[in-house]
Amino acid sequence: MTEVTAPYGTGAQAAPQKRIRIPHLMQMKERGEHWAMLTAYDMYAAEIFDAAGIPVLLVGDSAGNNVFGFETTVPVTVDHLVPLVRAVTSAAKRAMVVADLPFGSYQASPQQALATATRFMKEGLAHAVKLEGGAPMVPEVELLVRAGIPVMGHIGFTPQSEHVLGGYRVQGRGAGAEKLMDDALALERAGCFAVVMEMVPVGAAQAVTEALKIPTIGIGAGPHCDAQVLVWQDMAGLRGGRAPRFVKKYANLREELGKAAAAYAADVASGAFPAAENSFEE
Ligand code: KIV
Repeated sequence: MTEVTAPYGTGAQAAPQKRIRIPHLMQMKERGEHWAMLTAYDMYAAEIFDAAGIPVLLVGDSAGNNVFGFETTVPVTVDHLVPLVRAVTSAAKRAMVVADLPFGSYQASPQQALATATRFMKEGLAHAVKLEGGAPMVPEVELLVRAGIPVMGHIGFTPQSEHVLGGYRVQGRGAGAEKLMDDALALERAGCFAVVMEMVPVGAAQAVTEALKIPTIGIGAGPHCDAQVLVWQDMAGLRGGRAPRFVKKYANLREELGKAAAAYAADVASGAFPAAENSFEE
């Protein structure tokens, strides 16, 4: 492949220059450079992660349980996500922004998938879309790619199918490893530029990563994937309650925000806020 200068290294210290595109991701795989993807649903998160050098931002349907207060991703609609995608694409100057196709917006036919993906590209200004499912999604992926829309696949545990899968369960164990491999290869052949693998055993994820030319992005899929993804509220400790095993918390924003809100309320109660410097003279 022709060398394309990557706009980022994997850290904030590398000078960002231009939009991340598929060839950059392919080159990182060729060089064995691991990279991080994060979800983002609003302009400030997108701005901060973009400036930190995160090369790919996902406007996930995980907005269902991280923005909209649903229990699962199933109720999320295209109308919920399009404005979030637009906010993230307008704030991210260098990251590739991937829009998630929500449940029920693409499974009916390749034509339905194309109509939905087209909305995300035209109204949300997304750079790519993601959809869940392996080999059965090949006709959808092929049509989108033919239409000029880059597609990220998502296999292993697919949250939109949690009711069929019997809840949050590791996929790809035992004989499931063969299915995982078949799904990954089918998506690569269909034209996907990357594949998310969620909640699969380390060895199965490693075998898929070694078999594919395109990057694999793991979430609960061990250290051998080409990239990792986390929901940003999990990564930064905004979420309350017990986090899944695959989450690592890099900050405690929940505690920090709680402290800030309590300090503000105490200042208002005591009269310390607003002070003269927060007020206007006659
Ligand atoms: O919706 C989402 O955030 C996702 C990632 C967890 C991969 O699909």
